[in-house]
Amino acid sequence: MEDGHTDHTETAQEDGARRGITRKNVLKAAVAAVPIPLLLGGVALARDSKSSGGPLTPTPYCDDGDDPTPPQIEGPYFKPNSPLRDSLVQPGTQGTRLTVSGFVFGLTCQPLSHVLLDWWQADANGNYDNVGFRFRGHQFTDQRGAFKLTTIVPGLYPGRTRHLHVKVQAPNQPILTTQLYFPGEPRNNTDPLFNPALLMNVRQNGPAKEASFDFVLRVRGGSGPSPTDQPTAPGGTWASGTDYRTGDQVTYGGAAYTCLQPHTARDGWEPPAVPALWRRT
Ligand SMILES: [Fe+2]
Repeated sequence: MEDGHTDHTETAQEDGARRGITRKNVLKAAVAAVPIPLLLGGVALARDSKSSGGPLTPTPYCDDGDDPTPPQIEGPYFKPNSPLRDSLVQPGTQGTRLTVSGFVFGLTCQPLSHVLLDWWQADANGNYDNVGFRFRGHQFTDQRGAFKLTTIVPGLYPGRTRHLHVKVQAPNQPILTTQLYFPGEPRNNTDPLFNPALLMNVRQNGPAKEASFDFVLRVRGGSGPSPTDQPTAPGGTWASGTDYRTGDQVTYGGAAYTCLQPHTARDGWEPPAVPALWRRT
């Protein structure tokens, strides 16, 4: 797979999912050891164990830094200046209630506090509010690096599978713009933007759904990008600031890549670092 791992005994998707689950499990267990009343930890552990179908093998080291959350395009509906709030549900809101909870980690697995998460999504009918701020809001991770958003399951709209949009930014760090997806959605198979690395764990709880997702930012220690975040073998035709279209070909670090989705290149999105945007060819 694109991140340089040499273990190809599983498919990339399976391998990524397994590593993600085991990594999260270890990290959440570590967080759970902190004597602070838990909002999420026990539920998350139970959910992960269930979703994996058996005991999980702990990840021995979590400083691999090889699986930051991949970026996705912003799309046309982002608006700045969303309200600060943990719930996008208002009186009279229609739709299936949904909570999204999780943690934000840096590359060395430390939970990151005070991380901004700016959410926007479609309403139950698949419409974005481009006039006001319905289903738009931002929040910050707490001291444990945890967040919890209360909202509804977004409706479908033409051309896309079901998804949430979010921008995630640790203090004084670059913004990660990405999208989160729901398992079991038929359109996951046809939406070219869909990335299984961005699937949430979702479980039913009565009439509501409870989702979890942990972000991994390209941040080390909250003190700035680490040396390993920098291009390891720069050089080639790829250039930050360039508008790339699907199918565009570039070279970077001696390898050739094909663009998978339109985007404006930026530092940190070098082709080897963002398999959602570039496929090595
Ligand atoms: Fe969207």
